[in-house]
Amino acid sequence: MHFKNKVVWITGASSGIGKELAIQLVKLEAILILTSSNAQLLEQLQLELNYPKIHILPFDLFDLDGIPNLVARAFAFQGSIDCIIQSAGISQRSLTTETDLSVYKKLMDINYFAPVALTQAVLPRFKKQNKGNITVISSIAGLIGFPLRSGYAASKHAIKGYLETLQCELYKSNITVSIVYPGRIDTNISKNALKGNGEQFGSTDENNQVGMKVELCAKKIINGIIANKKSIIIVKSERLLFWLWWFIPSIYYKIAYSKGLKK
Ligand SMILES: NC(=O)c1ccc[n+]([C@@H]2O[C@H](COP(=O)([O-])OP(=O)(O)OC[C@H]3O[C@@H](n4cnc5c(N)ncnc54)[C@H](OP(=O)(O)O)[C@@H]3O)[C@@H](O)[C@H]2O)c1
Repeated sequence: MHFKNKVVWITGASSGIGKELAIQLVKLEAILILTSSNAQLLEQLQLELNYPKIHILPFDLFDLDGIPNLVARAFAFQGSIDCIIQSAGISQRSLTTETDLSVYKKLMDINYFAPVALTQAVLPRFKKQNKGNITVISSIAGLIGFPLRSGYAASKHAIKGYLETLQCELYKSNITVSIVYPGRIDTNISKNALKGNGEQFGSTDENNQVGMKVELCAKKIINGIIANKKSIIIVKSERLLFWLWWFIPSIYYKIAYSKGLKK
Protein backbone atom coordinates (compact mmCIF):
# COMPACT_ATOMS: atom_id res chain seq x y z
CA MET A 1 0.00 0.00 0.00
CA HIS A 2 0.99 3.65 -0.24
CA PHE A 3 -0.04 6.33 2.24
CA LYS A 4 -0.98 9.34 0.10
CA ASN A 5 -4.57 10.32 1.03
CA LYS A 6 -4.98 7.09 3.03
CA VAL A 7 -6.74 7.41 6.36
CA VAL A 8 -4.39 6.23 9.13
CA TRP A 9 -5.42 6.02 12.79
CA ILE A 10 -2.50 6.04 15.24
CA THR A 11 -2.91 5.23 18.92
CA GLY A 12 -0.11 6.33 21.25
CA ALA A 13 0.36 9.36 18.98
CA SER A 14 1.35 11.80 21.75
CA SER A 15 4.85 10.43 22.28
CA GLY A 16 7.71 8.28 21.01
CA ILE A 17 7.11 5.90 18.13
CA GLY A 18 3.45 6.90 17.57
CA LYS A 19 4.31 10.61 17.46
CA GLU A 20 7.18 10.05 15.03
CA LEU A 21 4.91 7.92 12.81
CA ALA A 22 2.50 10.88 12.69
CA ILE A 23 5.34 13.26 11.73
CA GLN A 24 6.52 10.98 8.91
CA LEU A 25 3.01 10.17 7.66
CA VAL A 26 2.30 13.89 7.29
CA LYS A 27 5.24 14.00 4.87
CA LEU A 28 3.63 11.13 2.96
CA GLU A 29 0.35 13.13 2.82
CA ALA A 30 -1.80 10.66 4.74
CA ILE A 31 -5.01 11.72 6.48
CA LEU A 32 -4.41 11.19 10.20
CA ILE A 33 -6.51 10.37 13.25
CA LEU A 34 -4.43 10.71 16.42
CA THR A 35 -5.30 9.11 19.76
CA SER A 36 -3.76 9.14 23.23
CA SER A 37 -5.18 9.83 26.67
CA ASN A 38 -3.61 13.31 26.76
CA ALA A 39 -5.75 15.76 24.74
CA GLN A 40 -3.36 18.64 25.40
CA LEU A 41 -0.36 16.82 23.91
CA LEU A 42 -2.39 15.86 20.84
CA GLU A 43 -3.52 19.47 20.34
CA GLN A 44 0.09 20.60 20.69
CA LEU A 45 1.21 18.05 18.08
CA GLN A 46 -1.57 19.15 15.74
CA LEU A 47 -0.34 22.75 16.07
CA GLU A 48 3.30 21.72 15.53
CA LEU A 49 2.47 19.69 12.44
CA ASN A 50 0.42 22.56 10.98
CA TYR A 51 -1.25 20.18 8.54
CA PRO A 52 -4.93 20.36 7.60
CA LYS A 53 -5.65 16.63 7.37
CA ILE A 54 -5.50 15.73 11.08
CA HIS A 55 -8.31 14.71 13.41
CA ILE A 56 -7.55 14.29 17.08
CA LEU A 57 -9.45 11.74 19.12
CA PRO A 58 -8.30 11.72 22.76
CA PHE A 59 -9.23 8.57 24.64
CA ASP A 60 -7.98 6.62 27.64
CA LEU A 61 -7.54 3.06 26.38
CA PHE A 62 -7.96 1.68 29.90
CA ASP A 63 -11.68 2.29 29.24
CA LEU A 64 -12.08 -1.00 27.37
CA ASP A 65 -15.88 -0.82 27.37
CA GLY A 66 -15.75 2.53 25.57
CA ILE A 67 -13.68 1.18 22.66
CA PRO A 68 -16.56 0.17 20.31
CA ASN A 69 -17.91 3.72 20.54
CA LEU A 70 -14.40 5.14 20.04
CA VAL A 71 -14.05 3.09 16.84
CA ALA A 72 -17.41 4.37 15.57
CA ARG A 73 -16.23 7.95 16.19
CA ALA A 74 -12.92 7.29 14.41
CA PHE A 75 -14.67 5.92 11.31
CA ALA A 76 -17.14 8.84 11.32
CA PHE A 77 -14.36 11.37 10.52
CA GLN A 78 -13.81 10.23 6.92
CA GLY A 79 -16.31 7.38 6.48
CA SER A 80 -13.52 4.79 6.27
CA ILE A 81 -10.08 3.97 7.66
CA ASP A 82 -7.31 2.32 5.66
CA CYS A 83 -4.86 1.53 8.42
CA ILE A 84 -4.79 1.47 12.21
CA ILE A 85 -1.36 1.58 13.85
CA GLN A 86 -1.61 0.68 17.53
CA SER A 87 1.43 2.10 19.28
CA ALA A 88 -0.11 2.89 22.70
CA GLY A 89 1.61 0.84 25.35
CA ILE A 90 3.25 0.88 28.78
CA SER A 91 6.38 -0.95 29.91
CA GLN A 92 7.53 -2.21 33.32
CA ARG A 93 10.62 -1.96 35.50
CA SER A 94 10.18 -4.32 38.45
CA LEU A 95 11.19 -7.75 39.65
CA THR A 96 8.50 -10.40 39.38
CA THR A 97 8.53 -10.94 43.13
CA GLU A 98 8.07 -7.21 43.77
CA THR A 99 5.18 -6.59 41.37
CA ASP A 100 1.58 -6.14 42.54
CA LEU A 101 -1.11 -8.11 40.74
CA SER A 102 -2.77 -4.78 39.90
CA VAL A 103 0.29 -3.86 37.80
CA TYR A 104 0.03 -7.13 35.84
CA LYS A 105 -3.63 -6.33 35.17
CA LYS A 106 -2.81 -2.79 33.98
CA LEU A 107 -0.12 -4.06 31.61
CA MET A 108 -2.49 -6.67 30.18
CA ASP A 109 -5.25 -4.07 29.79
CA ILE A 110 -3.16 -1.57 27.86
CA ASN A 111 -0.83 -3.89 25.90
CA TYR A 112 -3.22 -6.80 25.24
CA PHE A 113 -6.92 -6.16 25.90
CA ALA A 114 -6.96 -2.64 24.40
CA PRO A 115 -5.44 -3.72 21.05
CA VAL A 116 -7.68 -6.80 21.06
CA ALA A 117 -10.79 -4.65 21.71
CA LEU A 118 -9.73 -2.15 19.03
CA THR A 119 -9.05 -4.92 16.52
CA GLN A 120 -12.34 -6.70 17.27
CA ALA A 121 -14.25 -3.43 16.75
CA VAL A 122 -12.34 -2.43 13.61
CA LEU A 123 -12.50 -5.84 11.87
CA PRO A 124 -16.22 -5.89 10.92
CA ARG A 125 -15.83 -2.44 9.36
CA PHE A 126 -12.68 -3.51 7.47
CA LYS A 127 -14.60 -6.60 6.26
CA LYS A 128 -17.40 -4.35 5.00
CA GLN A 129 -14.84 -2.15 3.19
CA ASN A 130 -13.07 -5.31 2.00
CA LYS A 131 -9.71 -3.74 2.87
CA GLY A 132 -7.64 -2.43 5.76
CA ASN A 133 -4.35 -2.88 7.58
CA ILE A 134 -4.01 -3.51 11.31
CA THR A 135 -0.53 -2.84 12.68
CA VAL A 136 0.33 -3.38 16.34
CA ILE A 137 3.61 -2.53 18.04
CA SER A 138 4.63 -5.56 20.10
CA SER A 139 8.27 -5.81 21.22
CA ILE A 140 11.28 -8.09 21.23
CA ALA A 141 9.95 -8.78 24.75
CA GLY A 142 6.99 -10.34 22.88
CA LEU A 143 9.43 -12.96 21.57
CA ILE A 144 11.76 -13.56 24.54
CA GLY A 145 11.59 -12.74 28.24
CA PHE A 146 13.91 -10.18 29.84
CA PRO A 147 14.52 -9.24 33.51
CA LEU A 148 12.17 -6.67 35.12
CA ARG A 149 9.60 -7.11 32.31
CA SER A 150 7.52 -10.13 33.46
CA GLY A 151 4.13 -8.45 32.97
CA TYR A 152 5.22 -6.45 29.94
CA ALA A 153 6.72 -9.50 28.20
CA ALA A 154 3.61 -11.54 29.03
CA SER A 155 1.31 -8.92 27.53
CA LYS A 156 3.43 -8.58 24.39
CA HIS A 157 3.64 -12.40 23.98
CA ALA A 158 -0.15 -12.50 24.35
CA ILE A 159 -0.81 -9.92 21.64
CA LYS A 160 1.55 -11.81 19.30
CA GLY A 161 -0.48 -14.99 19.79
CA TYR A 162 -3.76 -13.19 19.10
CA LEU A 163 -2.47 -11.39 15.99
CA GLU A 164 -0.65 -14.36 14.48
CA THR A 165 -3.84 -16.39 14.74
CA LEU A 166 -5.68 -13.55 13.03
CA GLN A 167 -3.06 -13.53 10.27
CA CYS A 168 -3.84 -17.20 9.60
CA GLU A 169 -7.60 -16.64 9.66
CA LEU A 170 -7.36 -13.63 7.32
CA TYR A 171 -5.02 -15.40 4.88
CA LYS A 172 -7.51 -15.20 2.00
CA SER A 173 -8.89 -11.76 2.79
CA ASN A 174 -7.84 -8.25 1.76
CA ILE A 175 -7.30 -7.33 5.39
CA THR A 176 -3.65 -7.40 6.42
CA VAL A 177 -2.07 -7.58 9.86
CA SER A 178 1.48 -6.46 10.66
CA ILE A 179 3.18 -7.12 14.00
CA VAL A 180 6.13 -4.91 14.89
CA TYR A 181 8.89 -6.19 17.18
CA PRO A 182 11.19 -3.31 18.13
CA GLY A 183 14.26 -3.75 20.29
CA ARG A 184 15.41 -0.74 22.34
CA ILE A 185 14.19 2.56 20.89
CA ASP A 186 15.17 5.97 22.27
CA THR A 187 11.77 7.18 23.59
CA ASN A 188 10.13 7.92 26.96
CA ILE A 189 9.08 4.28 27.35
CA SER A 190 11.15 3.67 30.50
CA LYS A 191 10.12 7.03 32.07
CA ASN A 192 6.48 6.01 31.61
CA ALA A 193 7.05 2.39 32.69
CA LEU A 194 5.39 1.05 35.83
CA LYS A 195 7.25 0.04 38.98
CA GLY A 196 6.04 -2.90 41.04
CA ASN A 197 3.78 -0.68 43.15
CA GLY A 198 2.16 0.90 40.08
CA GLU A 199 4.05 4.22 40.28
CA GLN A 200 5.90 5.56 37.23
CA PHE A 201 9.56 4.53 36.93
CA GLY A 202 10.31 8.15 36.00
CA SER A 203 13.77 7.94 34.44
CA THR A 204 15.31 6.91 31.15
CA ASP A 205 17.31 3.76 31.62
CA GLU A 206 20.60 3.01 29.92
CA ASN A 207 18.96 0.44 27.64
CA ASN A 208 16.77 3.04 26.00
CA GLN A 209 19.47 5.71 25.81
CA VAL A 210 21.55 3.44 23.57
CA GLY A 211 18.48 2.42 21.61
CA MET A 212 17.77 3.04 17.95
CA LYS A 213 16.66 6.57 17.06
CA VAL A 214 12.90 6.81 16.89
CA GLU A 215 13.05 8.38 13.41
CA LEU A 216 14.70 5.26 11.97
CA CYS A 217 12.29 2.98 13.83
CA ALA A 218 9.22 4.81 12.44
CA LYS A 219 10.69 4.73 8.93
CA LYS A 220 11.17 0.97 9.18
CA ILE A 221 7.59 0.52 10.41
CA ILE A 222 6.19 2.56 7.50
CA ASN A 223 8.32 0.67 4.98
CA GLY A 224 7.25 -2.64 6.54
CA ILE A 225 3.57 -1.75 6.19
CA ILE A 226 4.09 -0.58 2.60
CA ALA A 227 5.81 -3.93 1.86
CA ASN A 228 2.88 -5.73 3.54
CA LYS A 229 5.19 -7.56 5.97
CA LYS A 230 3.53 -9.80 8.55
CA SER A 231 6.43 -9.33 11.01
CA ILE A 232 8.50 -6.17 11.16
CA ILE A 233 11.56 -6.81 13.32
CA ILE A 234 13.48 -3.65 14.26
CA VAL A 235 16.68 -4.47 16.11
CA LYS A 236 20.35 -3.63 16.40
CA SER A 237 22.45 -5.80 18.76
CA GLU A 238 19.25 -7.46 20.10
CA ARG A 239 19.49 -9.72 17.04
CA LEU A 240 22.49 -11.42 18.69
CA LEU A 241 20.56 -11.88 21.95
CA PHE A 242 17.73 -13.54 20.05
CA TRP A 243 20.18 -15.77 18.20
CA LEU A 244 21.77 -16.81 21.52
CA TRP A 245 18.35 -17.51 23.06
CA TRP A 246 17.55 -19.81 20.15
CA PHE A 247 20.89 -21.62 19.69
CA ILE A 248 22.86 -21.27 22.98
CA PRO A 249 20.23 -20.50 25.64
CA SER A 250 22.67 -20.97 28.54
CA ILE A 251 24.60 -17.89 27.34
CA TYR A 252 21.40 -15.89 26.71
CA TYR A 253 20.21 -16.37 30.29
CA LYS A 254 23.62 -15.43 31.68
CA ILE A 255 23.74 -12.20 29.66
CA ALA A 256 20.09 -11.34 30.34
CA TYR A 257 20.71 -11.80 34.07
CA SER A 258 23.86 -9.65 34.18
CA LYS A 259 22.65 -6.92 31.76
CA GLY A 260 19.03 -6.83 32.85
CA LEU A 261 19.66 -6.69 36.56
CA LYS A 262 22.67 -4.34 36.41
CA LYS A 263 22.19 -1.43 38.84
N1 LIG B 1 10.75 2.36 23.10
C1 LIG B 1 11.08 1.08 23.11
O1 LIG B 1 12.23 0.71 23.46
C2 LIG B 1 10.08 0.04 22.69
C3 LIG B 1 10.56 -1.24 22.41
C4 LIG B 1 9.67 -2.23 22.04
C5 LIG B 1 8.32 -1.94 21.94
N2 LIG B 1 7.87 -0.69 22.21
C6 LIG B 1 6.43 -0.45 22.12
O2 LIG B 1 6.20 0.65 21.27
C7 LIG B 1 4.98 1.29 21.64
C8 LIG B 1 5.23 2.79 21.78
O3 LIG B 1 6.11 3.02 22.86
P1 LIG B 1 7.06 4.30 22.91
O4 LIG B 1 8.43 3.79 23.00
O5 LIG B 1 6.69 5.26 21.87
O6 LIG B 1 6.67 4.84 24.39
P2 LIG B 1 6.12 6.24 24.90
O7 LIG B 1 6.94 7.34 24.36
O8 LIG B 1 5.98 6.10 26.36
O9 LIG B 1 4.67 6.33 24.21
C9 LIG B 1 3.61 5.54 24.67
C10 LIG B 1 2.32 6.05 24.06
O10 LIG B 1 1.24 5.24 24.57
C11 LIG B 1 0.18 6.09 24.96
N3 LIG B 1 -0.62 5.55 26.04
C12 LIG B 1 -0.19 5.07 27.24
N4 LIG B 1 -1.23 4.78 28.03
C13 LIG B 1 -2.35 5.09 27.32
C14 LIG B 1 -3.73 5.05 27.60
N5 LIG B 1 -4.20 4.60 28.78
N6 LIG B 1 -4.60 5.46 26.65
C15 LIG B 1 -4.16 5.92 25.47
N7 LIG B 1 -2.86 5.99 25.14
C16 LIG B 1 -1.97 5.59 26.06
C17 LIG B 1 0.91 7.35 25.45
O11 LIG B 1 0.01 8.45 25.40
P3 LIG B 1 -0.60 9.24 26.65
O12 LIG B 1 0.34 9.07 27.80
O13 LIG B 1 -0.69 10.63 26.13
O14 LIG B 1 -1.93 8.60 26.88
C18 LIG B 1 2.00 7.49 24.43
O15 LIG B 1 1.53 8.19 23.32
C19 LIG B 1 4.52 0.62 22.93
O16 LIG B 1 3.53 -0.32 22.63
C20 LIG B 1 5.78 -0.07 23.43
O17 LIG B 1 5.48 -1.19 24.22
C21 LIG B 1 8.72 0.31 22.59
